[in-house]
Amino acid sequence: MAESPVVTDQTPIPKTQPATSQPASSKRLIKALRREPLDRPPFWLMRQAGRYLPEYRQTRAEAGSFLDLCFDSARSAEVTLQPIRRFGFDAAILFADILLIPSALGQKLTFAEGEGPVLAPIRDLEALKPLSAEHLHERLAPVYDTVSRLSKALPGDVTLIGFAGAPWTVATYMVQGRGSSDQGAAKSWAYHKPDEFQVLIDLLVDVTIEYLDRQVQAGAEVLQLFDTWAGSLPEPQFHRWSLQPMKRIAEALKARYPHVPMIAFPRGAGPLSRDVALVDAIDAIGLDTSMSVGWAAREVQSLKTTQGNLDPLMVVAGGKTMEGEITRILSGFGQGPHIFNLGHGIVPETPPEHVGALSRQVLAWRG
Ligand code: CP3
Repeated sequence: MAESPVVTDQTPIPKTQPATSQPASSKRLIKALRREPLDRPPFWLMRQAGRYLPEYRQTRAEAGSFLDLCFDSARSAEVTLQPIRRFGFDAAILFADILLIPSALGQKLTFAEGEGPVLAPIRDLEALKPLSAEHLHERLAPVYDTVSRLSKALPGDVTLIGFAGAPWTVATYMVQGRGSSDQGAAKSWAYHKPDEFQVLIDLLVDVTIEYLDRQVQAGAEVLQLFDTWAGSLPEPQFHRWSLQPMKRIAEALKARYPHVPMIAFPRGAGPLSRDVALVDAIDAIGLDTSMSVGWAAREVQSLKTTQGNLDPLMVVAGGKTMEGEITRILSGFGQGPHIFNLGHGIVPETPPEHVGALSRQVLAWRG
């Protein structure tokens, strides 16, 4: 008979994360991602570096444009650290943007002030031809440099998160040429000529794997895939264009770096989030603002660590309203594993004092 392991009352580590391949970590975010018990959940906020902070606006003005800032490693590292100094988050997310990938592939990208991203739209295979991964790493080298600077500069208990956009979301911007309310141009291509659209998605899968691989080599300890527009697709198309590409990326990275956890954020996916949680190589699911805490605690948290989901506008409101919402979410996800976060990115109108109050409340929480 095989020797039986020591039985403890701790949450068992799931089969996808064999304990033997995990170097021990004292970092709270890593522990939550491994489903280890904690006295309070780790927390960080999507878009925690940004325009709501005066010091960000100052550094951004010194850098020039938003893209200049993204490609300036010293300043990108500086703005990544700014919210860590102020609020004591358990994680820092690399300062960059999901659209640096199309830019590095050769698609012209600008950020028009107050308007968001503008790209030269790609609507067919002909327009896709000039894009090439040949200079990818050369063009993205400043991003890798930002990661390695952060890896040296961060306090020992803060986890460094690297990220990329999920192929579907990045494709929506590449095809539309800008943000859109219905992702119409990308859907139109995907529905009319799925085999052609697949060529774009496959390219994005391949380059995203290599981009994230380099981030890990430079010091990223956790990865997140942002699928902001996952929720705009019908179920079969969600599986093909949102879930499958994320699965391929997560599996490739898990094979290379079994100890690096992957968080997927399929915004708007509702109950389909559970299908993402069923992917072995994905360790945590980001929940958007609209997700029911009760449902997610039952259907998602039982499978994988959850992350979310305070409405960013609650942080603009602040006061008792925000406090009540934070309590509802922290109680709803109970003993974890949970990572407290927003349901989408922090907005520029957010008073920094409200983020301070949020932070004090989460730090004082005992489940
Ligand atoms: O979270 C962080 O602090 C890390 C940095 C980060 C940025 N963008 C910086 C940014 C991350 C993780 C992103 C992801 C991103 N970028 C997403 C996915 C998440 C989401 O918010 O849905 C998307 C869709 C983008 C593309 C993008 N970048 C848009 C549509 C815009 C314009 C909207 C806006 O807020 O201005 C951006 C610009 C952007 N990316 C800013 C920042 C701080 C604001 C630019 C500025 O300083 O002027």
